[in-house]
Amino acid sequence: MDFHSSHIEGSYATRDADASWANAMLAIVDPTDLRVADIGCGGGIYSRAWRSLGAASVVGDDFSSQMIADARKASAGASSISFWCADAINTGLPDGSVDIVFQRALIHHLPDLPAGFSEAFRILAPNGTLIVQDRTYEDVLQPASPQHLRGYFFEIFPRLLHLEKERRPATEDVTTALLQAGLQRANTVSVAEVRRMYLSLTELQDDLHARIGCSILHALTDTELEQLIDAIRIGVGETWPITEQDYWTIWTAREPHTTKGRR
Ligand SMILES: C[S@@+](CC[C@H](N)C(=O)[O-])C[C@H]1O[C@@H](n2cnc3c(N)ncnc32)[C@H](O)[C@@H]1O
Repeated sequence: MDFHSSHIEGSYATRDADASWANAMLAIVDPTDLRVADIGCGGGIYSRAWRSLGAASVVGDDFSSQMIADARKASAGASSISFWCADAINTGLPDGSVDIVFQRALIHHLPDLPAGFSEAFRILAPNGTLIVQDRTYEDVLQPASPQHLRGYFFEIFPRLLHLEKERRPATEDVTTALLQAGLQRANTVSVAEVRRMYLSLTELQDDLHARIGCSILHALTDTELEQLIDAIRIGVGETWPITEQDYWTIWTAREPHTTKGRR
């Protein structure tokens, strides 16, 4: 997927983070008065959510100028949120300048995971927290249901699973990369995050046609996308509205503050 194309305008900006996500974050860290960097921020959905949770300031970073434009537009008028266009492995943010680094749905796009984590380590203040949220292959394999619409993608087009197998991180590999970067791993949890509610099939169809927030749909032809929509229509039946949720793994690691000066 080309994150730099103007064709994906609005793809990661048009919804709000759900309470299920907020509760998962609050179980990890109290962001009140802390400084957050949201790396790979897309349209800033989660940058804004961190401010709503009480963070003192949020800087969203993304290597796509289209995403940064979306984030700025969607966050217009919000205080203490800024956006910055740079690569996740070389953000340009100052050493030790944030208390929380958040990376959601980013790491499966990074060719060099340890480099992404080393950069997070560099910008974290002593005792800061890195929170990584992504889907593992096991998360992707959850069965299809009216709540887990992505399950239909793989049930109808099993070939997509091969793509996922290649690009999804293994829990242990992420843990190893975190430790290699100098962070201390605290913990891994699984979370079901509500993505959004669809009031009608038409609303869902519009979202799928635009391939919004689902980069894997770009691997389907237009005809295949219609087949998928039809299968979802049959699978969901008459149970509208539906609340879609996705399964995620969240890794939490801490800046140990005793080793950084010696690296
Ligand atoms: C799937 S989107 C997730 C956006 C946002 N974090 C969210 O959860 O809504 C992945 C984002 O990571 C960004 N990205 C991918 N590789 C990157 C890199 N090397 N450096 C910075 N951003 C990157 C993309 O431009 C895109 O905005």
